[in-house]
Amino acid sequence: MASRALVLLAAVIIAFLLLLSPAYAARPADRHSKPEAAHHRKFGQKTWTQFGQHRAAAGHRKLGQIETTELPSPEISTDQVQVDVVSHGAVGDGESDDTPAFMEAWASVCSSSTPATLIVPKEKTFLLKQTVFSGRCNSTVTFKLDGKLVAPATRSESDWGKGNNRRWIMFSKVDGLTVTGDGTIDGSGEIWWKKSCRVDKNLPCTGAPTALLLYKCNNLTVENIRLLNSQQMHMSVEDCKDVVLKRVRITAPGDSPNTDGIHIARTKDIQVIDCDIGTGDDCMSIETGTENLYASGVTCGPGHGISIGSLGDDNSEARVSNITIYKARLTGTTNGARIKSWQGGRGYARDITYEDMVMEDVKNPIILDQNYCTMADPLRPKPCEKQDSAVEFSGIRFKNIRGTSATKQAIKLDCSDAVPCHDILLQDVKLTFNGRPQRHRGRSAHRSTTTSLCNNVQLQTLDNVDPKIAC
Ligand SMILES: *[C@@H]1O[C@H](CO)[C@@H](O)[C@H](O)[C@H]1NC(C)=O
Ligand SMILES: *[C@@H]1O[C@H](CO)[C@@H](O)[C@H](O)[C@H]1NC(C)=O
Ligand SMILES: *[C@@H]1O[C@H](CO)[C@@H](O)[C@H](O)[C@H]1NC(C)=O
Repeated sequence: MASRALVLLAAVIIAFLLLLSPAYAARPADRHSKPEAAHHRKFGQKTWTQFGQHRAAAGHRKLGQIETTELPSPEISTDQVQVDVVSHGAVGDGESDDTPAFMEAWASVCSSSTPATLIVPKEKTFLLKQTVFSGRCNSTVTFKLDGKLVAPATRSESDWGKGNNRRWIMFSKVDGLTVTGDGTIDGSGEIWWKKSCRVDKNLPCTGAPTALLLYKCNNLTVENIRLLNSQQMHMSVEDCKDVVLKRVRITAPGDSPNTDGIHIARTKDIQVIDCDIGTGDDCMSIETGTENLYASGVTCGPGHGISIGSLGDDNSEARVSNITIYKARLTGTTNGARIKSWQGGRGYARDITYEDMVMEDVKNPIILDQNYCTMADPLRPKPCEKQDSAVEFSGIRFKNIRGTSATKQAIKLDCSDAVPCHDILLQDVKLTFNGRPQRHRGRSAHRSTTTSLCNNVQLQTLDNVDPKIAC
């Protein structure tokens, strides 16, 4: 009897120990990791054609997991060609010049007759000098950026070429380009910021590179990547058509000079979705030639807000139309929804909607300014006196804009005598003054009210508009 009880006890103890054992404990996790592992192996065995199908089904994220598998050489005729910059000699230590290796890898993907991917592997930092990735390519190209690209931390001509330092990385005339991945483009901008006339008033105003310039690229997608500390503008989209910018993150200090986040010019049919931008200048600057822009879920701060313009400088003609800025959130910015033009320009900015915007501690939440003028550049002095032409602002709607203003004047609609603004709508606006408690002790309802300014505007208001506005 006693021995049977002992056996039973031993069995119970063994069962208990088994339950606690790491092998058992690992089992629930196995349930997740097993298919993952199988998945990896399967990728290795798959042809790139199959991989392409898998990718379509599983989504882009999975792509990052297969980089270590063997890559077919571009000579193999498959539907998916992958070229790793390392296989072309890129070192990725952040110090060696990897520009030639990138150029070679680019030549390889660009000449592929089937869709091709250039891979910048993760956990490596590649030093790139001024680089142009040119099309036209023979098929669509994906630039898969998982590692980091870093700019030379110098302003020397040997790194930037003589008198040609207005851009760092440029994609030129590449149709069907996708730039994607979890990687970073780091402009190492500090060295340029210090030499800016905005920072040191004794220095002449000279330009600095745009970190990522997309020029004449049709059917362009840029997604997930991060841009950091650009020399001047982070990203500029110029003369493109059919563009999607999605989940791009842009970060630079609030006092870094002219570091616009996303700059758009002469571009049609562009979507900007869920981008997160904090910079020292406009989070988005939308310039002449922009048509059919839809931006949704953009966050901005620090920065100068989401600006259209400045338009019409040097008496130029501007054309901006059909712009929607939907569900933007701005925090601690100098401007919110802004459209600005110089005196003396021509053309138009029309059919523009800012809708469902949240402002927090924004200095000029809503601002139309046809009298924009800055003398910031002593080399190009701008006359600020009254002129009898202007870029025409019309069909502009501000709907459901709420939050706090960091100044008393929350709405400023300052249009010209020459060409008054017309068909301007304010609907459902509530902006309160977030008067600093230290300066306004015992905040009252009165202290939280904001004011407005209106000159030369044919205005309609709907629902509640607070502050009240009279034109
Ligand atoms: C495209 O393919 C053709 C031959 O099919 C080749 O001659 C040409 O150089 C390729 N284009 C590029 C940009 O490599
Ligand atoms: C973009 O690609 C689509 C589908 O391939 C094509 O129909 C369209 O013409 C392209 N757009 C441009 C501007 O090249
Ligand atoms: C305005 O732009 C949107 C995209 O935001 C587009 O769907 C629409 O067709 C454009 N409207 C006109 C009149 O071009």
